[in-house]
Amino acid sequence: MPLSCDCPATRPGPTLASTCGGTPFMLFMGLLEVFLRSQCDIEDPCGRPKSASPYPEYDFIVIGSGSAGSVVAGRLSEIPEWNVLLIEAGQDEPTGAQVPSMFLNYLGTELDWMYFTEPEKEACLNENEQRCYWPRGKVLGGTSVINGMMYIRGSRHDYDNWASLGCDGWSYNDVLPFFLKSEDNKQLDLVDRGYHAEGGPVVISQFPYHPPLSRALVEAGGELGYPNRDLNGQYHTGFAITQSTNINGTRQSTAKAFIRPYKSRNNLHILLNSTVTRILINKRSKSAYGVEVVSEGKKQSIFATKEVILSGGAVNSPQLLLLSGIGPREDLEQVGVPLVHHLPGVGRNLQNHVAHFLTFNINDTNTTPLNWATAMEYLLFRDGLMSGTGISAVTGFVNTRYVDPEEDNPDIQLFFAGFLADCARTGQIGERINNGSRQIQIIPVVLRPKSRGCIKLNTSDPLDHPLIFAGYFTQPDDMKVLLDGIRIALKFQDTKAMKRYGLQLDRTPVQGCENLPFGSDEYWTCAAKRQTAPENHQAGSCRMGIASDPYAVVDTELKVHGIDRLRVIDTSIMPVLTSGNTHAPAMMIGEKGSDMVKQRWLTSEEGFFYNDHPSQRLGRHWGSW
Ligand SMILES: Cc1cc2nc3c(=O)[nH]c(=O)nc-3n(C[C@H](O)[C@H](O)[C@H](O)COP(=O)(O)OP(=O)(O)OC[C@H]3O[C@@H](n4cnc5c(N)ncnc54)[C@H](O)[C@@H]3O)c2cc1C
Ligand SMILES: *[C@@H]1O[C@H](CO)[C@@H](O)[C@H](O)[C@H]1NC(C)=O
Ligand SMILES: *[C@@H]1O[C@H](CO)[C@@H](O)[C@H](O)[C@H]1NC(C)=O
Ligand SMILES: *[C@@H]1O[C@H](CO)[C@@H](O)[C@H](O)[C@H]1NC(C)=O
Ligand SMILES: *[C@@H]1O[C@H](CO)[C@@H](O)[C@H](O)[C@H]1NC(C)=O
Ligand SMILES: *[C@@H]1O[C@H](CO)[C@@H](O)[C@H](O)[C@H]1NC(C)=O
Repeated sequence: MPLSCDCPATRPGPTLASTCGGTPFMLFMGLLEVFLRSQCDIEDPCGRPKSASPYPEYDFIVIGSGSAGSVVAGRLSEIPEWNVLLIEAGQDEPTGAQVPSMFLNYLGTELDWMYFTEPEKEACLNENEQRCYWPRGKVLGGTSVINGMMYIRGSRHDYDNWASLGCDGWSYNDVLPFFLKSEDNKQLDLVDRGYHAEGGPVVISQFPYHPPLSRALVEAGGELGYPNRDLNGQYHTGFAITQSTNINGTRQSTAKAFIRPYKSRNNLHILLNSTVTRILINKRSKSAYGVEVVSEGKKQSIFATKEVILSGGAVNSPQLLLLSGIGPREDLEQVGVPLVHHLPGVGRNLQNHVAHFLTFNINDTNTTPLNWATAMEYLLFRDGLMSGTGISAVTGFVNTRYVDPEEDNPDIQLFFAGFLADCARTGQIGERINNGSRQIQIIPVVLRPKSRGCIKLNTSDPLDHPLIFAGYFTQPDDMKVLLDGIRIALKFQDTKAMKRYGLQLDRTPVQGCENLPFGSDEYWTCAAKRQTAPENHQAGSCRMGIASDPYAVVDTELKVHGIDRLRVIDTSIMPVLTSGNTHAPAMMIGEKGSDMVKQRWLTSEEGFFYNDHPSQRLGRHWGSW
């Protein structure tokens, strides 16, 4: 690892985020920052893309550089004849966000849109005004810069279900090649043959370090009948220390994977700190021809000769369509946005996983806290506590009584969490509380919620947040599934692997549920509604579907129904949310979406033949990397 860089490591930007104070701690964080910035692979001073002053017009304009948008911009700019502009509301990735153990530190900072839902009726009841907090990345790389990096594709049944709903071309067998196209799996010996690939831009591997408790949790899953296996392979049910989007213990966001390697491509321009406020649409031809963008406080129009691609994520994409006059007529009238095209599905069908977190006490496991020794271990060897997310890298997919285990389509995912002592919000091992024990959380997540929410405009001001109605638990079946999930989580206490750690439920009742018999169904229902874990897997708000489906927003090529030259490519297009984390599916949607854009425009007329479809390359080295 070279310790000096070819160009000076002085890149302005947000400093290492820390949620807690105290002089020694701030000093520690300050020095850590200095050291981190001297590490070339982390700081990457030479690889940073520059924000360009834009041309008046491009072939393609991509709005949003998140998990999907960076893939789209990177892939489209592979065609040297095309000029591509990528517009991002946030700034470049900060140094500290590259350190896996710090993954929660950036929530609530300037890298976060910091959305709050409208007051919920059945969830987040203990939160201020009953609003759930929805962090979303506002930074080059989008939410892939602040997420937990877990690489999970979802169930084969998810995509086969999309196909059965009319989304031709989106069955599991259809989408698998697009997962493989991105992938550079560094542990092929650990995963199932035929489901993984090497040579793509996205490095997939487990973090270098896992605390012993992580292995014990997987062992406990085994005792409960769920084997340790590749959860992205032949089976979806089971437990694992998952693979993550990291390179040797540093985060690999989609900006790092798809944008930085192309910084020298002169056909890819990037506009940072710039918010698109409207998509320009010709009302007569119903065709998108550019965007209006606010950059450095100034508004300007930039034109697209081929397509505008909206990759703003599940909150911002519907918001921007609405601001551009595409959406339900009545909703637009209410806020005074002139109607361009009546499309009633925009903002509807919003889905998200939902959970309750259960707190357990465990014996002090004598894990090393964050100190100079662990920092040096990371700085010198990219190993130890800071190189991973601790027990947060463990997950399990399990079956409640409402699904048939034979179908291998689990309906609950278990997450694990726990913070290290000293308010560092890092290490993720289990907080040491004063009396010498630690606390961890087991979080059962409802994977296929029936509840739906929606996104609406609050005002016609494009810089205002939209109104978000999550609608958690408005469909009672979701609570039934969660109650069963909670029972499965409680069974961990009975496993040998967890008895070694003295795992025991913290029986402090959730505030507001004290009067209910602790542990009864009524108690857990109350607990889940009051202490809701609102999850971060928003999807579905611009859903894909056939033209005769009145609530479909995009067609199976992700083109907006009724508007030419405009696509939506991000998690908002999912007709039904996938059964797992959503970063890998978002990248897949980016790969498949950009592939379809190429299919449309790379015609023989223009002198190109498009022969790069992944199906022609299966089994070979993937990608042109
Ligand atoms: C705390 C947290 C932890 C998570 N952990 C995991 C995990 O471990 N594994 C996993 O698979 N998933 C995880 N997720 C979810 C996953 O990261 C997201 O589902 C995924 O990144 C969404 O991708 P996207 O492309 O749809 O949107 P985003 O990645 O959110 O991208 C949208 C981008 O568009 C930009 N943008 C929006 N509007 C505008 C505009 N008007 N003008 C210009 N730019 C705009 C935004 O700033 C952003 O950069 C997590 C999410 C969170 C919040
Ligand atoms: C980002 O843009 C805002 C206004 O649009 C401006 O106030 C701010 O200074 C910009 N930040 C940077 C770092 O350029
Ligand atoms: C990870 O980084 C360390 C420290 O620079 C280095 O010694 C090691 O070889 C790297 N490992 C891989 C797999 O690149
Ligand atoms: C430590 O405190 C927690 C919460 O206050 C309690 O549940 C736990 O039993 C205590 N552990 C010991 C070893 O006293
Ligand atoms: C919506 O607008 C009202 C009135 O301006 C304001 O009070 C409220 O905070 C806004 N809501 C959101 C989510 O921004
Ligand atoms: C952990 O706690 C359990 C239950 O309190 C106890 O039986 C066990 O000996 C403890 N284990 C260790 C390693 O301290």
